[in-house]
Amino acid sequence: MTISGAAIVGGVCGQPIRHSMSPILHNAWIQAAGLDAAYVPFAPAADRFETFIDGLRGGAVRGLNVTIPFKERALARADTASDLARMAGAANLLIFNPDGSVHADNTDGPGLLSAIAIQAPGFDVAAAPVVILGAGGAARGAVAALLLAGALRVTVVNRTLARAQDLVDAFGTKVFAAAEAALPHLLAEAGLVINATSLGLGGGDGPAADLSRTPETAVVMDMVYKPLRTEFLQRARSTGRRAVDGLEMLLRQAEPSFEAIYGVAPPADVDVRAIALKLLGED
Ligand code: ATR
Repeated sequence: MTISGAAIVGGVCGQPIRHSMSPILHNAWIQAAGLDAAYVPFAPAADRFETFIDGLRGGAVRGLNVTIPFKERALARADTASDLARMAGAANLLIFNPDGSVHADNTDGPGLLSAIAIQAPGFDVAAAPVVILGAGGAARGAVAALLLAGALRVTVVNRTLARAQDLVDAFGTKVFAAAEAALPHLLAEAGLVINATSLGLGGGDGPAADLSRTPETAVVMDMVYKPLRTEFLQRARSTGRRAVDGLEMLLRQAEPSFEAIYGVAPPADVDVRAIALKLLGED
């Protein structure tokens, strides 16, 4: 791998960043593509994020992925933003233009849609209502992506109904808020159910939704990917539903990020899922 004085530098910014898989994945692509480039981790102090971003204006790095806890502040600091980033209220990608301006984008949404297309081929987002469990940043990003993909009805169900209501208010007429008590009825007609809560992260039970109430054709997705086989997805599989895992979303958001930073698509012959499974101890 060559890193010359002309190398294109990209990276990922979060706090903490030590456990991010992104540097390993992007550098595997860089190596396979034979690029003169590097992708490095950054963990600025939480109160210095804006100073850090401003210091990169004008070309120190070409592009930067952004992760927890900086996604909302990344959008706020940018000069321009894509529709998706604005709708999601968060950016996971910043592109630094030569004129010093910063453009915010969001590839989490496309990642979510690609993951569904890969693990539940043929699924039509517009064919049946969507139920999103949770009302935090992950849920808002999922709602934005699904609306742009043509979803006709998305219902956000959250333990704290007021928070779901706040989220729904940021969108138009196709998005609704509901309390957990409405779940049985909502699940009965759902085409897609997504866990966007933190339940199941690190093990333990996922949301208490009775997935056996969904139509047999329903697809169940978990945005949690540690562990890979969450209790929620195990339950979906045991009731015969198609399951989409959060790791696939993580991997698929990286593809458009790589292309935006380095100007070429990631080489298709790198098995990034195998690399990620090994890192997660799931191989
Ligand atoms: P993120 O930005 O990653 O989406 P977040 O903003 O902390 O994270 O949101 C976490 C989500 O998980 C919320 O919807 C939260 O519900 P509340 O708004 O009621 O807090 C949900 N969540 C976390 N722990 C939960 C639990 N024990 N039961 C039900 N929902 C839970």
